[in-house]
Amino acid sequence: MKALTKNLIKKMRIKLLKLRGMKTGKNIDIENGCSFEYPKKICLRSGVRVSRYSILKANSEYDIPITIGEKTQIMEQVLLCANEGSIRIGHDSWIGPQCLIYGNGHVKIGSHVMIAAKTSINTVSHNHSIVGIPMCQQGINTAPVVIEDNVWIGLNTTILQGVTIGKGSIIGAGAVVTKDIPPYSIAVGTPARVISKRKDDSFPSQKDVLKLTRVNVN
Ligand SMILES: CC(C)(COP(=O)(O)OP(=O)(O)OC[C@H]1O[C@@H](n2cnc3c(N)ncnc32)[C@H](O)[C@@H]1OP(=O)(O)O)[C@@H](O)C(=O)NCCC(=O)NCCS
Repeated sequence: MKALTKNLIKKMRIKLLKLRGMKTGKNIDIENGCSFEYPKKICLRSGVRVSRYSILKANSEYDIPITIGEKTQIMEQVLLCANEGSIRIGHDSWIGPQCLIYGNGHVKIGSHVMIAAKTSINTVSHNHSIVGIPMCQQGINTAPVVIEDNVWIGLNTTILQGVTIGKGSIIGAGAVVTKDIPPYSIAVGTPARVISKRKDDSFPSQKDVLKLTRVNVN
């Protein structure tokens, strides 16, 4: 009975958001305590899950500034804040608990990306060149962050504005990424430096791919 009520409340929550103009695919899951600002500027594609107490703020002039791809999971207490920019996430990605993503200068996250808990992505910086004027009055500058497909970002990482993390890369826990990371790199530390490359022989053979396809079909 309790589960039935919970399910009903969940369905009503989603229906209400759709009535407020949110674009949604099929089978989305929104847990309790989440908050959506400007829902008509948010698109959650089929199978997306938004876990408890996450906040999605689409406060931006852009058309649909927050877009989340199929089967991507947003875990607990994540803050996605478009802030006059945009946040676009591909399919089958995973954004861990308490991640903070600020879209001021635009954030693009690919598909099959894993971002561990407490990671922050920042696309804005305060100007600070004039010592005699308070920094809060000198304006800001923004630059995009791009995280390509199949990247794994370790716990508690900070990614600063203007950075592209190449496909297939791993960023070690606790890193501060200040510069571009080439594809298939393993980078750690503050500032993040490439310590090794993922080897080419880690690609599956044609035989392995066929085996995997067969497993998925069954
Ligand atoms: C980056 C990572 C994947 C590297 O794994 P690995 O390729 O097996 O590398 P190793 O453990 O052999 O470490 C290689 C070197 O990098 C150092 N190193 C590894 N991880 C590091 C990190 N996060 N920060 C700083 N240095 C790190 C090691 O101390 C070692 O240094 P040494 O050669 O001087 O001894 C791993 O250490 C990591 O940080 N994983 C993230 C874990 C996480 O956040 N999990 C959350 C679940 S989603």
